Amino acid sequence: MSEKVKFNIHRFDPEKDKEAITKEYSVPLTEGMTVLDGLEYIQKNIDKTLSYKSSCRAGKCQSCAMVINGSQALACQTVIKDKVITLKPLPGMKLVKDLVVTPSKDIKFKVFRFDPDTDKKPYFKEYTVPVTFGMTVLEGLSYIQEYIDGSLVFRSSCRAGVCGSCGMHINGKYRLSCETQILALEADVITVKPIAHMKILKDLIVDLEPFWEKYRSIKPYLIPGDPNPEIERLQTQDEREDLVGMIDCILCGCCQGACTMTGTDEDYLGPAILFKADRFVKDSRDKALKERINLVGGDHGIWRCHTIYNCQVACPKQLDPTGAIADLKRKSIDRGTRISFWGRI
Ligand code: SF4
Ligand code: SF4
Ligand code: FES
Ligand code: FES
Repeated sequence: MSEKVKFNIHRFDPEKDKEAITKEYSVPLTEGMTVLDGLEYIQKNIDKTLSYKSSCRAGKCQSCAMVINGSQALACQTVIKDKVITLKPLPGMKLVKDLVVTPSKDIKFKVFRFDPDTDKKPYFKEYTVPVTFGMTVLEGLSYIQEYIDGSLVFRSSCRAGVCGSCGMHINGKYRLSCETQILALEADVITVKPIAHMKILKDLIVDLEPFWEKYRSIKPYLIPGDPNPEIERLQTQDEREDLVGMIDCILCGCCQGACTMTGTDEDYLGPAILFKADRFVKDSRDKALKERINLVGGDHGIWRCHTIYNCQVACPKQLDPTGAIADLKRKSIDRGTRISFWGRI
């Protein structure tokens, strides 16, 4: 007897039903069966009245988007792994019937605008964007730029969470706009602001030159301190382990914007830069520990950090700049190279 999978499906016909119900169906499970295969089986063999949408069956058209066991996903791309599959329509969209919703929802974008050449002060401008499943905040901004207001400017490049150029403050939190799906925010208004504590060049674009200047100041490259070997510089597995979580920083600057100390001392190196410094301190191939500790130990370095953890909370890559700064402080104390505001101690 073949294994069965239970489908719990949201059923509601606004024209006939007073309230939504969850209806159970039992479906024979086959190898590699997707949620869409299960829905097709139900509609063909059990209940012809069930409504859902699909078209390409290849993850392209997005018409089969729904909430599958609590997460928004495409039914045609979701292979069944659980014994129970609970299906609900996408939240926030107008329900047509059962799992079918209108293809888009109008969502208001409140976008920070400021042109230092023409504006006396910054302001927020509102735009209405027709949002479809999977659309990111970056795509929403591109929609505004292309169809509503070509004067809006923002940075982006890779659209894949790699280059770090699209970091912004979105609905109360720093995020990469290319990785932030609008519907997943479950909000009717999307408020977008630039990274804080940096000079605004225009709208969402900030002047990153001081950031790169600080970055260059910590010598962000390996200093091996010995002649080049004939073959590559080898690391043991344990030495490589020390770099896990250290080499993933994409220099998006989100932590820098979230740090209160960066806001009060414009020369403070800041969490992104100090995180990078620790990345080289932790690398077994680097032999410049003393020089590096001195570079980050001055009046605007590690001792400015009050360990408030804002940077760690803000990091869209879930890295730990606060821990990296604590590590640098520890190494600085170990070496007796602590420099106070009043001189070396
Ligand atoms: S932990 Fe330190 S670097 Fe991070 S936000 Fe707080 S003060 Fe800034
Ligand atoms: S530590 Fe995180 S938030 Fe800070 S720059 Fe790197 S990736 Fe961005
Ligand atoms: S049917 Fe087109 S994305 Fe699933
Ligand atoms: S565009 Fe590159 S990280 Fe978002």
